[in-house]
Amino acid sequence: MSKPKGNRIALIGTGFVGSSYAFALLNQGVADELVMIDVNEEKAKGDVLDLNHGKVFAANPLAIRFGTYEDCRDADIVVICAGANQKPGETRLQLVEKNLKIFHSIVTQVVSNGFDGIFLVATNPVDVLTYATWKYSGFPKERVIGSGTILDTARFRFLLGEYFQVAPQNVHGYIIGEHGDSELPVYSSVDVGGVSVMKMIEQNNKYSQQDLDDIFVNVRDAAYQIINSKGATYYGIAMGLVRITKALLHNENSILTVSALLEGEYGEDDVYIGVPAILNRNGIREVIELDLSTHEKELFHKSANTLKETLAPHFM
Ligand code: LAC
Repeated sequence: MSKPKGNRIALIGTGFVGSSYAFALLNQGVADELVMIDVNEEKAKGDVLDLNHGKVFAANPLAIRFGTYEDCRDADIVVICAGANQKPGETRLQLVEKNLKIFHSIVTQVVSNGFDGIFLVATNPVDVLTYATWKYSGFPKERVIGSGTILDTARFRFLLGEYFQVAPQNVHGYIIGEHGDSELPVYSSVDVGGVSVMKMIEQNNKYSQQDLDDIFVNVRDAAYQIINSKGATYYGIAMGLVRITKALLHNENSILTVSALLEGEYGEDDVYIGVPAILNRNGIREVIELDLSTHEKELFHKSANTLKETLAPHFM
């Protein structure tokens, strides 16, 4: 296989999320080459054709082709979107058995073909599967990253923006923990244009903590709602994956809530979980430790334990 000129992404899994990621990558001009890999070759080849036919409309060139695991050798990032996804009413954690088997096969093939870049995992349960990727690959923790709570944080910022009637880009704040039912909002970190929302609630009785709590519930349960409506979620997560890809390839040192391995941060160890982290060309540079309230610490610890209990039968 020819050595890529520029940034190569190898995408494994071209289902709803993977093909949406490819579409977003083409439209945002973040990489130079995209190789699409899937067990369903015909589907992947169809996506390659379909995307290439749109290239004339794209602002930036992106070489797109079908490929195999051999193409991972020279990739900068391997993005894994392959695996079973949630059915209506199914939790993300219920996918763990079937997706661990799939991941063991994928990760061992990627590594045996000489890949030495960054793994970016999207498949659910993403925190568990990112931990599995770290274990199966033997890669250093900074080069194994999960999409974590990047989408939850985006949902949180969107809904807060609607509530406070400002652009979501001007709302700052994080959802941390499991990308799933035990995630939690860090209200103390939330500001609108630099003004703490806690202060806004105190100073203006048109805003309330109850409204914020209702917003969080909508964030936490958003995927169930979307899955009930259209069968799967894919646009939001695909754009979150492109955002992470951009931060990595462009050496941004941006802070995004991704699934990162904790080794003592937040008082937790040996678990991949959604936290704010600084991302650059080498992967995760540093995990950011937010000041959590006592209640937030309890919720985060509970979330970490939920993930550890899920991992235990397979890795502990
Ligand atoms: C969601 C999927 C990506 O939250 O877990 O939409």
